[in-house]
Amino acid sequence: MKQSKVTVIGAGNVGATAAQRLAEKNIANVVLIDVAEGIAKGKALDLMEARPVELEDRYILGGSDYALSEGSDVVLMTAGLARKPGMSRDDLLKINADIVTACIENAYKYSPNAIFIVVSNPVDAMTQLTYQILSVKGVAKHKIIGMAGVLDSSRMAFFIAEALDVSVKNIQPCVLGGHGDDMVPVARYTTVAGVPLTELLSEEKINAIIERTQKGGIEIVNLLQTGSAFYAPASSAVEMIDAILLNKKQILPCSCYLEGEYGISGVFVGVPTKLSSNGIEQILELKLTEPELAALKSSAESVRKNIQRLDDLRQLTS
Ligand code: LAC
Repeated sequence: MKQSKVTVIGAGNVGATAAQRLAEKNIANVVLIDVAEGIAKGKALDLMEARPVELEDRYILGGSDYALSEGSDVVLMTAGLARKPGMSRDDLLKINADIVTACIENAYKYSPNAIFIVVSNPVDAMTQLTYQILSVKGVAKHKIIGMAGVLDSSRMAFFIAEALDVSVKNIQPCVLGGHGDDMVPVARYTTVAGVPLTELLSEEKINAIIERTQKGGIEIVNLLQTGSAFYAPASSAVEMIDAILLNKKQILPCSCYLEGEYGISGVFVGVPTKLSSNGIEQILELKLTEPELAALKSSAESVRKNIQRLDDLRQLTS
């Protein structure tokens, strides 16, 4: 049977951790690509040398040559700068756009049929940029996906599990919107063993969890001081890859290109999707209250502003 192949672009913390999890969970063979060839080769070799202990059969190759990535089923784009304290994800816009453009062009040459998952920040804008680059080459929108909703939901689930002192496995969270401070955790659609969260916690406690979820990224940045989160982001990307490669039809919140869903058009934003071997097989439209929908639209507008700002910056420097 043909083994799946995943190329991870960027051998930094998110990329290397994703590579490790993909191999250890026996999900796919991995190619780790980075402009810093030694880092990619070194981390890949280190992971290969762990295989006899971990007893995994998946190989991990590293290097800077995209030829290694040929024929990948999934390309996971993680390269780019991470935030430092005091920075917003949006401050990374121009520099990461240049990195994403170069990497995606190169990866596409060798894997034109891959599904592309973007993690680089600001993620919704970087996913839209990937779409702009690839759609002109004929890549369909359902094959271009941003990772953020799984991460934001996972954070929310953890905070709820802590507040209620129950297993994280009992929490079914719901977070919509862009991966920014105005993301939209929806308590009404969040359940604990089937019971709506709104019946289990006070409004005050729920609001505190919502706020901590919205600021989940910066909480880690402030603790680390030298970079941003990577364990949970890598786990989140790997869950999406697993759903795709195993054709699970799993409902996961992903940043995807909306064309009228939720009354939003022409922008990548996080909503529940069904992931299969086709990528985004379906976008699910939840019934939202007026305030929830307004919050989602406002979050989508923040993404749109970022994309506009990126277009302006790029015109200035072209
Ligand atoms: C975070 C970064 C990865 O939310 O955006 O931690």
